[in-house]
Order: sequence, then structure tokens, then C-alpha cells
Amino acid sequence: MPGLLLGDAFPDFEAETTNGKIKFHEFLGDSWGILFSHPKDYTPVCTTELGRIARLRSEFSKRNIKIIALSIDTLEDHHGWTKDILAYNCEESACCSLPFSIIADSKRELAVALGMLDPDEKDKDGLPLTARCVFIIGPDKRLKLSLLYPATTGRNFDEILRVVDSLQLTAGKRVATPADWRPGDCVMVPPNMSEEEAASLFPAGIYTKDLPSGKKYLRYTHQQ
Ligand code: BEZ
Repeated sequence: MPGLLLGDAFPDFEAETTNGKIKFHEFLGDSWGILFSHPKDYTPVCTTELGRIARLRSEFSKRNIKIIALSIDTLEDHHGWTKDILAYNCEESACCSLPFSIIADSKRELAVALGMLDPDEKDKDGLPLTARCVFIIGPDKRLKLSLLYPATTGRNFDEILRVVDSLQLTAGKRVATPADWRPGDCVMVPPNMSEEEAASLFPAGIYTKDLPSGKKYLRYTHQQ
């Protein structure tokens, strides 16, 4: 069964979270959203990840992103684990609660429905754990990006903010971002845009790289 594909409408599930019951689309409202899944509560890599997300709260809110996490344990476990996450990651004065909710999925219903299980990582009973999924959902409730990491590899949150910047830029402007792009760097003119259209859309100018093929597809312009 294929998992969620780019452009798919993201399922409007209901879930119990550390801050009460939610309906996912209602929770998202008009914002962008990121759903982070985690293999298990009281695990070391996840503890570092959730702490990092908490410390990045202002970066996410600046980008109008609602964050939600999921782990395949109970609410009781989530509340107990939250104290560890805060103690490990935050200065006492800086945060006394996580700035996002954690979904309780102890029966793995959502993990199965959203294709998030990692068959190579099992718990002590031999049941698969959740992979480290990153689902980025646009204000239109469609999947804009998904990243899938195995349980043994923690995520790079600088990269997640970087891809959000690219997604949000390219959602509003007909440009593409090159390898390792950072906000403020030059952007690329998409290959399906004619030279005439590009000249009128980017009056600040376009730089076209000469290539052995003679084809004029490597076109840069300033980020506006
Ligand atoms: C962790 O979060 O530390 C972890 C979870 C499952 C397998 C390996 C590591």
C-alpha cells in the first residue's frame, strides 16, 4: 500500500494528545503544520529531538507553523517523559512545558494509517516502532514534503527550517531553490518558464550559465 504522496490531502484524523483531543485539520487552522513521529517514549535520540523542537519554538511560530509530535505510547507515558525532556533540554527559567502537543498512539492506529512504522526497529515484544517521519502540510491541508528517517538517526532541524523556507518561498513565487540554498541566496528560474516570461517576471535580471550543451536552463535570479 503506498503511503502518503506529495500533493495528497492529509488525513483529518482525531487523536488524544497531551493537551486534549484534537481534530487535525481544525488544529492546523490556516497555518502550515509539521507532524514529527517518534519511535518510543523514554528513548535518548527522541529526547534530544523534542528538546530541540522546543528550543526552536520561535523559529516555527515566525514561519506560521503548528507543530505536533506523535509517539506510540500512552498519555501517561508522554506526561512522564515530558518532564525528562524539559529537564534535559531546557534551562529551568526558559520553559516549564513543551510548546507543542504529543499524540498518544499506543495502539499504533495512526502509525499504520499514515505509513509510519519502521519494520527494522522493534520493541521488546517484537512490535515495530515508528520511524522518524517529518510531514510538512500546507495551509491547503496537502502534503508538501515528507522525510523518513530510521529510528537510529536523529533529524537535522536546521535542514527542516531550511526546507520550510524553500517551501514557503516557492509556494508564493515561481522560483526553485538550488542545492544547499539558504534564504537570501539567489534562486533559480524554473525550467518550464519561457525566456520572455522570465524577463517580465524578474526585471532585476537573470544570469544564465553557459553550458557545453548550449542549452539555457541554468538560470539564476535574485530572491525578491
Ligand atoms: C531513540 O530514540 O533513542 C531510539 C529509539 C529507537 C531505536 C533506537 C533509538
